[in-house]
Amino acid sequence: MYPREIFIVLTKRLPNTTLFDMSCPFHNPTNPTDPFREPRERDGVLVNNFQGREIPMVLRHEDLRNAARDWRTFSSDAPFKVPIPTEEDVRTVRQLPLEVDPPEQQDYRALVEPFFNRAKLPEVIARMEMLVGELVTAVRDRDSFEAVREFAIPLQSRALAILLDMPDTEAKIWIGWGTHVFRDGDGASKGAALEAYTNALLDCAQAKPGSDFFSALTQAKIGDRPLTRQEMLGYCSIVYAGGRDTIINSITGIVAHLAHTPADFEYLRADRKRVIGASEEFFRVLSPVTHLSRQCTRDTEVHGVKVAAGEFVSLCFSSANFDATVFESPDEVKLDRRPNPHVAFGFGPHLCLGAAHARLVVRTLLNVLCDQVAKIDILEHTWKNEDEPSFTRQVAADRLEMKFTRL
Ligand code: HEM
Repeated sequence: MYPREIFIVLTKRLPNTTLFDMSCPFHNPTNPTDPFREPRERDGVLVNNFQGREIPMVLRHEDLRNAARDWRTFSSDAPFKVPIPTEEDVRTVRQLPLEVDPPEQQDYRALVEPFFNRAKLPEVIARMEMLVGELVTAVRDRDSFEAVREFAIPLQSRALAILLDMPDTEAKIWIGWGTHVFRDGDGASKGAALEAYTNALLDCAQAKPGSDFFSALTQAKIGDRPLTRQEMLGYCSIVYAGGRDTIINSITGIVAHLAHTPADFEYLRADRKRVIGASEEFFRVLSPVTHLSRQCTRDTEVHGVKVAAGEFVSLCFSSANFDATVFESPDEVKLDRRPNPHVAFGFGPHLCLGAAHARLVVRTLLNVLCDQVAKIDILEHTWKNEDEPSFTRQVAADRLEMKFTRL
């Protein structure tokens, strides 16, 4: 995950040489999470061929923030095409409020914002603490457990049920979906089954509304009209997909880092006030969303690369988060980094609605680990890469056999 320099930094800081097992998925100098340094510093842009389309990637922090703000030129009004790769083969609905521009996007966003703000309620925070405590206790002291399937996926799914005010029994279904909601391991679409499931859920909610997110959608109005079923499905789609591998990969990335850098684990344990800043640094370094696209509404240019109206650019959050003009020693994990203006959750009008929830999950995880676990070991792993013609980015663990030793 980190380039060679970080090993030098970490080796100096920590005497325990076994930490620097070069086969660790998250400390692999030949396959960093920031494959963009050279083009970012030299050109500010990297043109990559995605699905037969040449797309310039905006790599620098300031350029990304300017483009993300300039929705009139760099539009999100591109159903199925904001994610890369595009998703027309896996869903039939426009994701809301992601694939709309202001001012309509602001109305769509305001409608669901109260639900996302539930992550700040004391009773939601208390339920999250109980959930994470239960999950850590369940795997602690086992000889080994597989952290993606036995820990991160259940935590993501059950935490989402808390946010959406759904019963824990529903989360059991979501756990079965694996890391990606739209595609199975071979890349085949699961989208039709997901839409059928969501339609059934919305039918029940419509017939007998409760206090949950799906019921709220069936009762909501945009302006003075109810939402259409397509719009309801559009909200559900991003809640399932946007909040899935992002959270799963954050969880596994963090536990793997703490396994390999026990000094950071001890640093957090010594003062829990450090957990908030540390969580932001984890989001920066892990940058779970590599990039998303925008469709240009007029002919424009990105650092000398011409982009015709109708063509796409990508906002590369994961590159901007390693921009050395903004982040000193960007390859180093500095849990006390301040300020930390990372763009892992995006920037501008589409700033992630799930950020408060993601922060709650990660902060709770760090606190519970500090309370319950003395030591984390990685026993075996395989990792996952995003392989593109112009770059390879290590994004996550595919399989992570671990051991948590009780405090
Ligand atoms: C670590 C976890 C997460 C990361 C890194 C992340 C990242 C992002 C990013 C980069 C955007 C900006 C999209 C753009 O500019 O086009 C975004 C938007 C969004 N995210 Fe997240 N996300 C995370 C978790 C979640 C979760 C848990 C949910 C829901 C439960 C969620 C729901 C959304 C929604 C609804 C939007 C669209 C907001 C809008 O268009 O106004 N995200 N996210």
